[in-house]
Amino acid sequence: MTGTPLANQRVLITGASSGIGAGMAAGFAEAGAAVLVNHHGQAHEAAAVVRQIIERGGRAAEAEGDVSRPADIKAIFDAATQHFGGVDILVANAGIQKDAAFTEITLEEWRAALDVDLTGAFLCAQEAVRRFRRQGLDPSRSKALGKVLFTSSVHQEIPWAGHANYAAAKGGVKMLMETMAQELAPEKIRVNAIAPGAIQTSINQAAWGTPAARRRLLKLIPYGRIGQPQDVADAAVWLASDAADYVVGATLFVDGGMSLYSNFAHGG
Ligand code: BGC
Repeated sequence: MTGTPLANQRVLITGASSGIGAGMAAGFAEAGAAVLVNHHGQAHEAAAVVRQIIERGGRAAEAEGDVSRPADIKAIFDAATQHFGGVDILVANAGIQKDAAFTEITLEEWRAALDVDLTGAFLCAQEAVRRFRRQGLDPSRSKALGKVLFTSSVHQEIPWAGHANYAAAKGGVKMLMETMAQELAPEKIRVNAIAPGAIQTSINQAAWGTPAARRRLLKLIPYGRIGQPQDVADAAVWLASDAADYVVGATLFVDGGMSLYSNFAHGG
Protein backbone atom coordinates (compact mmCIF):
# COMPACT_ATOMS: atom_id res chain seq x y z
CA MET A 1 0.00 0.00 0.00
CA THR A 2 1.30 3.47 -0.79
CA GLY A 3 0.57 6.84 0.76
CA THR A 4 -0.62 7.43 4.30
CA PRO A 5 -4.18 6.09 4.47
CA LEU A 6 -4.03 6.17 8.27
CA ALA A 7 -2.67 9.70 8.77
CA ASN A 8 -4.11 11.20 12.00
CA GLN A 9 -5.16 7.76 13.25
CA ARG A 10 -4.07 6.23 16.54
CA VAL A 11 -3.83 2.44 16.68
CA LEU A 12 -3.38 0.16 19.66
CA ILE A 13 -2.01 -3.26 18.71
CA THR A 14 -1.93 -5.97 21.34
CA GLY A 15 0.85 -8.52 21.20
CA ALA A 16 2.90 -6.23 18.97
CA SER A 17 6.40 -7.07 20.17
CA SER A 18 6.85 -10.02 17.82
CA GLY A 19 5.41 -11.94 14.90
CA ILE A 20 2.31 -10.70 13.11
CA GLY A 21 1.78 -7.95 15.69
CA ALA A 22 5.25 -6.49 15.15
CA GLY A 23 4.68 -6.62 11.39
CA MET A 24 1.39 -4.79 11.79
CA ALA A 25 3.02 -2.17 14.03
CA ALA A 26 5.53 -1.38 11.26
CA GLY A 27 2.83 -1.44 8.58
CA PHE A 28 0.43 0.84 10.43
CA ALA A 29 3.24 3.30 11.19
CA GLU A 30 4.24 3.27 7.52
CA ALA A 31 0.62 4.10 6.69
CA GLY A 32 0.80 7.18 8.91
CA ALA A 33 -0.75 5.96 12.16
CA ALA A 34 0.66 6.55 15.63
CA VAL A 35 1.19 3.08 17.10
CA LEU A 36 0.85 1.91 20.69
CA VAL A 37 2.84 -1.33 20.89
CA ASN A 38 1.47 -3.57 23.63
CA HIS A 39 3.53 -6.49 24.87
CA HIS A 40 3.54 -8.88 27.79
CA GLY A 41 6.98 -9.32 29.36
CA GLN A 42 8.88 -8.57 26.15
CA ALA A 43 10.23 -5.11 26.96
CA HIS A 44 13.36 -5.53 24.87
CA GLU A 45 11.52 -6.69 21.74
CA ALA A 46 8.82 -4.02 22.12
CA ALA A 47 11.46 -1.30 22.50
CA ALA A 48 13.08 -2.50 19.26
CA VAL A 49 9.73 -2.32 17.40
CA VAL A 50 9.18 1.22 18.69
CA ARG A 51 12.75 2.27 17.89
CA GLN A 52 12.51 1.05 14.30
CA ILE A 53 9.28 2.98 13.76
CA ILE A 54 10.75 6.18 15.19
CA GLU A 55 13.94 5.78 13.14
CA ARG A 56 11.77 5.68 10.01
CA GLY A 57 10.07 8.93 11.02
CA GLY A 58 6.94 7.35 12.54
CA ARG A 59 5.26 7.72 15.92
CA ALA A 60 5.17 4.86 18.43
CA ALA A 61 5.26 4.04 22.13
CA GLU A 62 5.07 0.82 24.11
CA ALA A 63 2.91 -0.38 27.00
CA GLU A 64 3.33 -3.62 28.95
CA GLY A 65 0.23 -5.53 29.97
CA ASP A 66 -1.61 -8.84 30.00
CA VAL A 67 -4.74 -8.63 27.82
CA SER A 68 -6.59 -11.08 30.02
CA ARG A 69 -6.39 -8.69 33.01
CA PRO A 70 -8.86 -5.79 33.01
CA ALA A 71 -6.59 -3.56 35.11
CA ASP A 72 -3.74 -4.01 32.63
CA ILE A 73 -6.05 -3.22 29.72
CA LYS A 74 -7.08 0.06 31.28
CA ALA A 75 -3.40 0.98 31.72
CA ILE A 76 -2.60 0.09 28.10
CA PHE A 77 -5.42 2.28 26.76
CA ASP A 78 -4.42 5.06 29.17
CA ALA A 79 -0.91 4.91 27.72
CA ALA A 80 -2.35 5.47 24.24
CA THR A 81 -4.27 8.47 25.55
CA GLN A 82 -1.21 9.82 27.30
CA HIS A 83 1.03 9.48 24.23
CA PHE A 84 -1.37 10.19 21.38
CA GLY A 85 -4.56 11.62 22.91
CA GLY A 86 -6.75 8.58 22.21
CA VAL A 87 -7.32 5.45 20.12
CA ASP A 88 -9.14 5.20 16.77
CA ILE A 89 -8.25 1.61 15.89
CA LEU A 90 -7.86 -1.45 18.10
CA VAL A 91 -6.08 -4.43 16.64
CA ALA A 92 -6.83 -7.27 19.07
CA ASN A 93 -3.94 -9.42 18.01
CA ALA A 94 -2.34 -10.99 21.08
CA GLY A 95 -2.53 -14.76 20.88
CA ILE A 96 -0.91 -17.90 22.20
CA GLN A 97 -1.00 -21.62 21.48
CA LYS A 98 -0.92 -24.33 24.15
CA ASP A 99 -0.87 -27.40 21.94
CA ALA A 100 -1.72 -30.89 23.16
CA ALA A 101 -3.67 -33.95 22.11
CA PHE A 102 -7.30 -33.62 23.16
CA THR A 103 -7.19 -35.93 26.17
CA GLU A 104 -3.91 -34.37 27.35
CA ILE A 105 -5.02 -30.74 27.45
CA THR A 106 -4.91 -29.60 31.06
CA LEU A 107 -7.48 -27.22 32.43
CA GLU A 108 -4.64 -24.72 32.82
CA GLU A 109 -3.73 -25.00 29.12
CA TRP A 110 -7.36 -24.75 28.10
CA ARG A 111 -7.85 -21.65 30.21
CA ALA A 112 -4.58 -20.02 29.13
CA ALA A 113 -5.50 -20.20 25.43
CA LEU A 114 -9.09 -19.09 25.98
CA ASP A 115 -8.02 -16.31 28.38
CA VAL A 116 -5.63 -14.66 25.94
CA ASP A 117 -7.09 -15.56 22.54
CA LEU A 118 -10.78 -15.02 23.27
CA THR A 119 -11.37 -13.32 26.63
CA GLY A 120 -8.44 -10.95 26.05
CA ALA A 121 -9.82 -10.00 22.64
CA PHE A 122 -13.27 -9.44 24.19
CA LEU A 123 -11.98 -7.30 27.05
CA CYS A 124 -9.83 -5.12 24.79
CA ALA A 125 -12.66 -4.68 22.31
CA GLN A 126 -15.08 -3.72 25.07
CA GLU A 127 -12.68 -1.09 26.40
CA ALA A 128 -12.06 0.23 22.88
CA VAL A 129 -15.76 0.65 22.11
CA ARG A 130 -16.38 2.49 25.39
CA ARG A 131 -13.53 4.87 24.58
CA PHE A 132 -14.65 5.40 20.96
CA ARG A 133 -18.01 6.55 22.30
CA ARG A 134 -16.43 8.97 24.76
CA GLN A 135 -14.14 10.40 22.07
CA GLY A 136 -16.96 10.97 19.57
CA LEU A 137 -16.81 11.05 15.78
CA ASP A 138 -13.99 13.16 14.33
CA PRO A 139 -14.26 13.32 10.52
CA SER A 140 -10.75 14.80 10.32
CA ARG A 141 -9.50 11.38 11.44
CA SER A 142 -11.93 8.87 9.94
CA LYS A 143 -15.43 8.36 8.58
CA ALA A 144 -15.99 5.79 11.35
CA LEU A 145 -16.33 6.43 15.06
CA GLY A 146 -13.80 3.65 15.57
CA LYS A 147 -12.51 0.40 14.16
CA VAL A 148 -11.87 -2.95 15.80
CA LEU A 149 -9.84 -5.54 13.97
CA PHE A 150 -9.34 -9.03 15.36
CA THR A 151 -6.47 -11.29 14.42
CA SER A 152 -8.37 -14.54 14.08
CA SER A 153 -7.03 -17.56 12.19
CA VAL A 154 -7.90 -19.96 9.40
CA HIS A 155 -8.71 -22.19 12.39
CA GLN A 156 -11.89 -20.22 13.02
CA GLU A 157 -13.06 -22.47 10.13
CA ILE A 158 -10.57 -25.31 9.76
CA PRO A 159 -10.71 -27.91 12.54
CA TRP A 160 -7.23 -28.58 13.92
CA ALA A 161 -6.38 -31.85 15.64
CA GLY A 162 -4.07 -31.35 18.60
CA HIS A 163 -5.15 -27.74 19.05
CA ALA A 164 -8.72 -27.93 20.40
CA ASN A 165 -8.25 -25.02 22.81
CA TYR A 166 -6.82 -22.71 20.14
CA ALA A 167 -9.43 -23.67 17.52
CA ALA A 168 -12.26 -23.22 20.05
CA ALA A 169 -10.93 -19.76 20.94
CA LYS A 170 -10.69 -18.70 17.28
CA GLY A 171 -14.17 -20.04 16.54
CA GLY A 172 -15.29 -17.86 19.42
CA VAL A 173 -13.49 -14.85 17.97
CA LYS A 174 -15.46 -15.30 14.74
CA MET A 175 -18.85 -15.06 16.49
CA LEU A 176 -17.63 -12.33 18.84
CA MET A 177 -16.54 -10.28 15.83
CA GLU A 178 -19.74 -10.85 13.83
CA THR A 179 -22.02 -10.15 16.78
CA MET A 180 -20.13 -6.99 17.70
CA ALA A 181 -20.22 -5.86 14.06
CA GLN A 182 -23.99 -6.32 13.88
CA GLU A 183 -24.56 -4.58 17.22
CA LEU A 184 -22.21 -1.64 16.73
CA ALA A 185 -22.50 -0.80 13.03
CA PRO A 186 -25.36 1.67 13.66
CA GLU A 187 -22.90 3.69 15.76
CA LYS A 188 -20.41 3.74 12.88
CA ILE A 189 -18.05 1.38 14.62
CA ARG A 190 -16.58 -1.05 12.11
CA VAL A 191 -15.62 -4.48 13.39
CA ASN A 192 -13.78 -6.96 11.16
CA ALA A 193 -11.20 -9.73 11.36
CA ILE A 194 -8.22 -11.05 9.52
CA ALA A 195 -7.75 -14.81 9.39
CA PRO A 196 -4.08 -15.50 8.73
CA GLY A 197 -2.93 -18.89 7.52
CA ALA A 198 0.63 -20.06 8.01
CA ILE A 199 2.64 -16.90 8.60
CA GLN A 200 6.32 -17.40 9.34
CA THR A 201 6.69 -16.40 13.00
CA SER A 202 7.88 -18.01 16.21
CA ILE A 203 4.40 -19.35 17.11
CA ASN A 204 4.58 -21.93 14.31
CA GLN A 205 8.32 -22.46 13.98
CA ALA A 206 7.86 -26.22 14.26
CA ALA A 207 5.82 -26.07 11.03
CA TRP A 208 8.52 -24.38 8.90
CA GLY A 209 11.78 -24.73 10.84
CA THR A 210 13.13 -27.84 9.05
CA PRO A 211 13.08 -28.69 5.33
CA ALA A 212 10.78 -31.68 5.95
CA ALA A 213 8.31 -29.63 7.98
CA ARG A 214 8.38 -26.89 5.37
CA ARG A 215 7.59 -29.36 2.59
CA ARG A 216 4.63 -30.70 4.56
CA LEU A 217 3.39 -27.19 5.26
CA LEU A 218 3.67 -26.06 1.64
CA LYS A 219 1.36 -28.92 0.61
CA LEU A 220 -1.38 -27.09 2.54
CA ILE A 221 -0.85 -23.76 0.75
CA PRO A 222 -2.05 -23.61 -2.88
CA TYR A 223 -0.22 -20.34 -3.48
CA GLY A 224 3.08 -22.11 -2.83
CA ARG A 225 4.75 -19.95 -0.23
CA ILE A 226 4.64 -19.34 3.49
CA GLY A 227 3.15 -16.00 4.49
CA GLN A 228 5.10 -13.14 6.03
CA PRO A 229 3.90 -10.66 8.68
CA GLN A 230 3.92 -7.96 6.00
CA ASP A 231 1.23 -9.88 4.08
CA VAL A 232 -1.06 -9.56 7.08
CA ALA A 233 -0.03 -5.97 7.79
CA ASP A 234 -0.93 -4.81 4.28
CA ALA A 235 -4.40 -6.34 4.54
CA ALA A 236 -4.91 -4.97 8.06
CA VAL A 237 -3.99 -1.41 7.07
CA TRP A 238 -6.53 -1.51 4.29
CA LEU A 239 -9.28 -2.97 6.50
CA ALA A 240 -8.68 -0.30 9.14
CA SER A 241 -8.58 2.57 6.64
CA ASP A 242 -11.47 4.56 5.18
CA ALA A 243 -10.83 2.75 1.88
CA ALA A 244 -12.70 -0.11 3.57
CA ASP A 245 -15.43 2.11 5.05
CA TYR A 246 -18.24 -0.15 3.80
CA VAL A 247 -16.60 -3.36 5.04
CA VAL A 248 -18.40 -4.43 8.21
CA GLY A 249 -18.35 -7.83 9.92
CA ALA A 250 -16.03 -9.40 7.36
CA THR A 251 -13.25 -11.91 7.84
CA LEU A 252 -10.45 -11.41 5.35
CA PHE A 253 -8.50 -14.64 4.87
CA VAL A 254 -4.82 -13.94 4.29
CA ASP A 255 -3.70 -17.50 3.82
CA GLY A 256 -2.41 -18.21 0.31
CA GLY A 257 -5.52 -20.32 -0.24
CA MET A 258 -5.02 -22.56 2.80
CA SER A 259 -8.75 -22.48 3.56
CA LEU A 260 -9.70 -23.80 0.10
CA TYR A 261 -9.64 -27.51 0.99
CA SER A 262 -6.62 -28.08 -1.25
CA ASN A 263 -6.90 -31.87 -0.86
CA PHE A 264 -9.90 -31.58 -3.16
CA ALA A 265 -7.84 -30.12 -6.02
CA HIS A 266 -7.46 -33.73 -7.18
CA GLY A 267 -10.28 -36.06 -6.30
CA GLY A 268 -13.60 -35.87 -4.58
C1 BGC B 1 -1.50 -20.79 13.92
C2 BGC B 1 -0.23 -21.30 13.27
C3 BGC B 1 -0.54 -22.16 12.08
C4 BGC B 1 -1.53 -21.48 11.15
C5 BGC B 1 -1.98 -22.38 10.00
C6 BGC B 1 -2.34 -20.12 12.86
O1 BGC B 1 -3.49 -19.59 13.44
O2 BGC B 1 -1.17 -19.89 14.97
O3 BGC B 1 0.52 -22.03 14.23
O4 BGC B 1 0.64 -22.44 11.36
O5 BGC B 1 -2.67 -21.06 11.87
O6 BGC B 1 -2.31 -23.67 10.42
